[in-house]
Amino acid sequence: MNFPNIELFPYNTGISPNGNLSIGGCDVSDLAREHGTPLYILDEVTLREKCREFVNTFRDYYPNTRVVYASKAFINLALANLFNEEGLGLDVVSGGELAVAQKANFPSDMIYFHGNNKSADELSMAVDYNIHRVVIDNFHEMTLLDSIAKEKHIVQDVLLRVSPGIDPHTHVYTTTGVLDSKFGFSIQTGQALQAVEMARGLSNVRIVGLHFHLGSPVFELEPYTKAMEIVLNFAEESNLDISEISPGGGFAIAYTRDQTPPAVKEYAEAITSTLKGRDNLQLIIEPGRSIIGRSGIAIYSIGSSKDIPGIRKYVSVDGGMGDNIRPALYQAEYEAVIANKMGSDVAEKVSIAGKFCESGDILLRDVMFPLLEAGDILAIPAAGAYAPSMASNYNMVPRPAVVMVKDGKSRVIRRRETYDDMMIYDLV
Ligand code: LLP
Repeated sequence: MNFPNIELFPYNTGISPNGNLSIGGCDVSDLAREHGTPLYILDEVTLREKCREFVNTFRDYYPNTRVVYASKAFINLALANLFNEEGLGLDVVSGGELAVAQKANFPSDMIYFHGNNKSADELSMAVDYNIHRVVIDNFHEMTLLDSIAKEKHIVQDVLLRVSPGIDPHTHVYTTTGVLDSKFGFSIQTGQALQAVEMARGLSNVRIVGLHFHLGSPVFELEPYTKAMEIVLNFAEESNLDISEISPGGGFAIAYTRDQTPPAVKEYAEAITSTLKGRDNLQLIIEPGRSIIGRSGIAIYSIGSSKDIPGIRKYVSVDGGMGDNIRPALYQAEYEAVIANKMGSDVAEKVSIAGKFCESGDILLRDVMFPLLEAGDILAIPAAGAYAPSMASNYNMVPRPAVVMVKDGKSRVIRRRETYDDMMIYDLV
């Protein structure tokens, strides 16, 4: 099979009997006809396999590990149910993500609440839901949470988010654990120690552990090891008795063939090597992208094209930066195939443009494809994370549907938005 980038696609990817791309036993061109485009397709087997790979691999290295899925990568009710079934916890960063968890009856003792500016309402909502851990990001939040917990007569267990001052060498917009970051208490400046001391003086928050998150995606292992050491040393030096340590998420996946992220076991080894002799500590990891990224593909229909002789050929699709902002925001690179021309040889170099009114709305630059015609189906792999969750209604374009495929069947887990949906909040 001439399918050089199959490794970027979900596990159950192949070619259907009529020569089209197939995912989870479903012909992708049929899915396009049935559900319309643009469309996100999630392969259930890949998604569940990834959950199990993280749980089993990390527990092989360090049994006392909890895997907490970072909802921001993409969450909805069906996905919350799936992660619950797989025994994962949930990292939420807003009242909205918490509301999804609540509606899905996600067990509150598996939920972690992150964010650098949680409101009083969000914190009250979390405390009322008996949330497992609030991850305290700053001084303001610590006093706010303490007073909310006091009013409700509870003591809230928290993790303190510290910034270890380690650069994981990823995009500047997704780097978080360095000194110049809006997130967390810096160890370097002494603010982390001040936060520990402040918490000691408060009666309704109790620090049970430390959290840090370096950035995302992180292709290197050493930053995790170094940061773990720095944070564990910090706990010792500040006489902080912790029972939990959370190095966050950020584990990389491949978007293009030239990217080779470490295996899950390499991340596990790098992180848990710092925990030798400390098995009383619970390790909490928060993968998002690496759980759901590979299970998803995004498909589009090809429409118009514009050939600028000697310069470039643009071919446009019916989606773009509204359903995947990553190329425009982070210069993220992707690969793609033409789902209905899997047997054809590549013939021309084109750039795939979106339909949104911005010159920067380009999904792929200068990529070789078979000769493209209107109606062809473009399929972009590794689209499960941060594409659907960061989608917008820019240009009043409805957001795509999401289908889950398994054993040759597809199930809509989020319906396509309608024009009426987009006006539902408007008052005249
Ligand atoms: N934990 C914390 C505290 C985080 O801030 C994040 C991601 C994660 C876990 C999960 O990271 P992951 O395993 O998914 O890499 N929109 C960007 C990524 C932003 C990540 C923000 N925080 C992108 O599309 O690349």
